[in-house]
Amino acid sequence: MDQMIRPQAPTPHPRFMVVDPAHFDVSYVINPWMDPDQWARDRETWQARARAGATDLHAALREAGAAVEIVPASPGLPDLVFPANAGIVLDRRVLPARFAHKERQGEEAPYRAAFEGFARRGLLDEVGQLPDGCFQEGAGDCIWDDRRDFFWTAYGQRSIKASLDQIAGFFGRTLVALELVNPRFYHLDTCFCPLSGGEVLYYPGAFDARGLATIREHVAADDLIEASDEDAAAFCVNAVSIDRTLIMAAAPARLKARLAERGYAVRDVDLVPFILSGGGAYCMTLRLDRARVRALLAA
Ligand code: ARG
Repeated sequence: MDQMIRPQAPTPHPRFMVVDPAHFDVSYVINPWMDPDQWARDRETWQARARAGATDLHAALREAGAAVEIVPASPGLPDLVFPANAGIVLDRRVLPARFAHKERQGEEAPYRAAFEGFARRGLLDEVGQLPDGCFQEGAGDCIWDDRRDFFWTAYGQRSIKASLDQIAGFFGRTLVALELVNPRFYHLDTCFCPLSGGEVLYYPGAFDARGLATIREHVAADDLIEASDEDAAAFCVNAVSIDRTLIMAAAPARLKARLAERGYAVRDVDLVPFILSGGGAYCMTLRLDRARVRALLAA
């Protein structure tokens, strides 16, 4: 049993990468949520609503005290709006993703260019590289847990098991591996979200008995907050956590009340157009200042 939790680390000025939604579209199907037919029936309306949703998401991040770095859109890369999949960042080092589906492989170059740009501006120190064919879809499948001082890392849907050694080698950090067994929850961030107070919001239906046992081994029963089917389908587990604020897609009232009891305020955003692509608030961001150093200083 390892349920050691560190004292809460302050987050002085979080910084997030987001992508301009100008070329967001739902034009292919690589996960069970994607619905190009519904999208095509009213493309212009969806696109306008997507722009409004992204603008409100950026406002929510700024309200929570974050800086927002907006990367330009690229024509023909509709899913570039989901930079949680761009790479894994810790302590000013980034390990860029390798995408499993050919539909998204074209995103690797613009994401790398964005990281190199951040490095030139002094926001990152090093841009790494995964070997060819070592599929790993960034922070969507590798979530840093500030309070427990390790990465929760997933494989089985998009990221492959062989990526675990690469991540551990690059960052020199401990990983706790979880297999994803449900195609509806194809990235870890769709079903698993560590909160700043040490709780974990998660959707049990995404894991098998072994995965659930691993979660329970590291998280005390009191700290486990189960998302309902409705919460998970509303993409509310896919939340951006900044101190006591949780930014997420429009949330069921009951989930908001349960989180409020624990001292968390939900700031929800209309992200329905992005849910038609299988993504929510966390998917649309990448935290650039994720730092172990800060947690150590606070300890
Ligand atoms: N359509 C995108 C895909 O299937 C959605 C990605 C959502 N991102 C995430 N981190 N869950 O790849």
